[in-house]
Amino acid sequence: MSKLTLARAKEILPKHVTEDHLFTHAAAVSAAMGAMADYFGQDAEEKDHWEAIGWLHDVDYEKYPDEHCHHVREFLAPEGVEEEDICAIISHGHGLTGVDQEPQSDMEKSLFTVDELTGIVHAYALMRPERLTGMEVKSLKKKFKDKRFAAGCNRDVIKRGFEMLGLEAGVVMEACIKGMQEHAEELGLAR
Ligand SMILES: [Fe+2]
Repeated sequence: MSKLTLARAKEILPKHVTEDHLFTHAAAVSAAMGAMADYFGQDAEEKDHWEAIGWLHDVDYEKYPDEHCHHVREFLAPEGVEEEDICAIISHGHGLTGVDQEPQSDMEKSLFTVDELTGIVHAYALMRPERLTGMEVKSLKKKFKDKRFAAGCNRDVIKRGFEMLGLEAGVVMEACIKGMQEHAEELGLAR
């Protein structure tokens, strides 16, 4: 068994996921996780690992939308994914899908937070002619406060994530925007 890489994550996900929007979401969360790894001073190998976790985090969602996070182990253990990584992925459902694992590491807390936050960034980018280019934290904060905007993205969950991380909202938002900007083409959000 070796540490999960982004390349490996990209091989595994299509075995369980077919819907385009789920791949786009995987790419967005992976991109944001890479920027969070940078924020926490991780090296290139560890950054790749965080991105891989982001890529795979919703591996069981399409097949088990009502039992999300409860089928991660059965999908990933046979692929040789380490127990620690499986637990990291499961923990993003804490308080949401009835899993016991609580996000503990910076990586897990980051995943918990950016999962929903990337949705708001994505929705906001879609309504800007310049998409992700030049997006500022200040304007994203306004969208965050407007509960009717991207109403499906749970603000309370994201706020809980900020608290878990012990970081200001703006810090995480900046990382999220930056990570997604670096993958704008892939996300279909380039100008
Ligand atoms: Fe997700």
